[in-house]
Amino acid sequence: MTELLIADGVAVTFGVTAALSGASVRVAEGEAVALIGPSGAGKSTLLLCLAGLLRPDEGIVRYDGIDLTSAGPDELARIRLREFGFVFQGGDLMPELSLAENVELPLRLAGIPRRDAQERAERLLVHLGVGEARTRRPDEVSGGQAQRAAVARAVVHEPAVVFADEPTGALDTDNARGVMQVLLAATRDVGASLVMVTHDRSLASLTDRVVEVHDGRVHDVVGDAATEQLGRMPAW
Ligand SMILES: Nc1ncnc2c1ncn2[C@@H]1O[C@H](COP(=O)(O)OP(=O)(O)O)[C@@H](O)[C@H]1O
Ligand SMILES: [Mg+2]
Repeated sequence: MTELLIADGVAVTFGVTAALSGASVRVAEGEAVALIGPSGAGKSTLLLCLAGLLRPDEGIVRYDGIDLTSAGPDELARIRLREFGFVFQGGDLMPELSLAENVELPLRLAGIPRRDAQERAERLLVHLGVGEARTRRPDEVSGGQAQRAAVARAVVHEPAVVFADEPTGALDTDNARGVMQVLLAATRDVGASLVMVTHDRSLASLTDRVVEVHDGRVHDVVGDAATEQLGRMPAW
């Protein structure tokens, strides 16, 4: 398998707090990896470094052969916009836009004409089970619906890697599992790798591999945990 994303010996210090020290992780093309560990372990910091959103004090982060720790701002912006997708805990959709308009954004930013972007966004929202809510704003839909739209926004431009930080953290158990399954299926559909932070072991076990983060280090690879075969959704 081709390794697409690599962090090697990454260290990040905030003031006197060592958030990461010597953290290393490798993500293969198309692989879904869960970063698991207690609060304050350094999971979000590691995700930010992998996504080129935070430059570590030490170590290397390489995406598709490009060293993100030495890449310039234009190249980093291009990679984040075109090749990465992001889902956070919630509340990060644009509040004044409808779900569909939120999902259109990455396509419009990539220069895709309005009508094509609208069509693709709508088709994807239908595919992910929130077609009927597409004209509503994020504050007019449930948390689960908003997160499905956030997943759509993260994959609509067919990125190479999707980063998700506690994407189901604000949802109840049933909704969390539903959104998790949509995230995994949508990511697989576009052939993207997934790097997902969670502290929920049962959700983590749905990914291909679970990586344990503790005290700023990647301690333990729990192993290939493809415990549940998710049916592939048809391509939209
Ligand atoms: N921007 C920041 N400024 C200061 N300290 C931070 C910042 N971000 C994270 N930290 C600290 O770094 C450590 C790791 O944080 P984080 O990566 O958010 O952990 P996790 O996501 O596993 O809960 C924690 O001690 C946290 O308080
Ligand atoms: Mg966190």
